[in-house]
Amino acid sequence: MKTLSQILTIGGDGMVGSYIDFGKKFNRAELDVTDGQAVLSAVKNHRSKTIIHLAALTDLDYCEKNPAQAYLVNSVGTYNVALAARAVGAKLVYVSTAGIFDGLKKGLYRESDPGRPQNHYGRSKYLGELVIQSLLKDYIIARACWMFGGGPKKDKKFVAKIIAQFQKPAIKALDDCWGSPTYAKDLVGALKKLIAKDARGLYHLAGKGRGSRCDVAKLIVETLKQKVPVIPVGSSHFKLPAKRVANEALTSKINLMRPWQKALVDYLKTEWKPVLEKTKLLS
Ligand SMILES: NC(=O)c1ccc[n+]([C@@H]2O[C@H](COP(=O)([O-])OP(=O)(O)OC[C@H]3O[C@@H](n4cnc5c(N)ncnc54)[C@H](OP(=O)(O)O)[C@@H]3O)[C@@H](O)[C@H]2O)c1
Repeated sequence: MKTLSQILTIGGDGMVGSYIDFGKKFNRAELDVTDGQAVLSAVKNHRSKTIIHLAALTDLDYCEKNPAQAYLVNSVGTYNVALAARAVGAKLVYVSTAGIFDGLKKGLYRESDPGRPQNHYGRSKYLGELVIQSLLKDYIIARACWMFGGGPKKDKKFVAKIIAQFQKPAIKALDDCWGSPTYAKDLVGALKKLIAKDARGLYHLAGKGRGSRCDVAKLIVETLKQKVPVIPVGSSHFKLPAKRVANEALTSKINLMRPWQKALVDYLKTEWKPVLEKTKLLS
């Protein structure tokens, strides 16, 4: 069994990293994955047998407008981390995304389905997967979808964006984009279990089931007892730089994640409600 205290996490200051309460964590200022020499030295100095690599540019629209930077961090950065892992014989844990799929499948995507990303973020992350698979034997690639977590301090994604609109007359959300919303805390819990049993390979670790963006927005409003209406709109409504595909829902060959609705309610009640009540944004 691997000891959690020996794990090295890179890119540990973000949403997922906020649930890593073990081992050594580097933030971007301490270790930039685009600096291959620095990554190699840090990994050699730490002598870790397991590296969790979370460093990435995760804003789809920013990546679309700055593709060179997206590939530098998400693909070349991952190459640097994979080379360092290979140099010291460490297991590499990489969090990838449902955004590597084309969105055309009618059902849920399996681990065995082929990748065909449709935007620069997806392509840059998929290249990261390919690099790891070509350089290493001991790796875990865990694909998540529509991540939420981190609470008011770290959540920059959909949940925070919906809560920020509570005072508006209405909230518009897509009803033609489907995914498997994933609680970052559950993802870290599942990764800990996989690392403990020395698992290897590609796994889907997303909230169980599927929902539309509109379903997610409605559950947020209902759980936090708001009256603002949620209006379903089609994906042509928002003109965004990065293409969003219709289906990013995932299923898995393993059973480590709970239904996304349960996880979302848990997240809202434990990490958002107490803070919103204190700031009087919730009555
Ligand atoms: N969020 C999602 O919906 C989602 C879904 C599927 C998969 N993922 C994957 O999950 C992983 C963790 O994402 P997250 O949601 O926790 O995102 P996040 O909150 O944006 O965290 C990413 C972290 O990477 C750091 N970083 C950026 N560029 C770096 C560089 N050059 N060197 C070192 N660190 C760098 C960031 O540092 P700064 O804060 O200083 O910029 C940030 O702390 C990523 O690999 C992401 O692709 C995310």
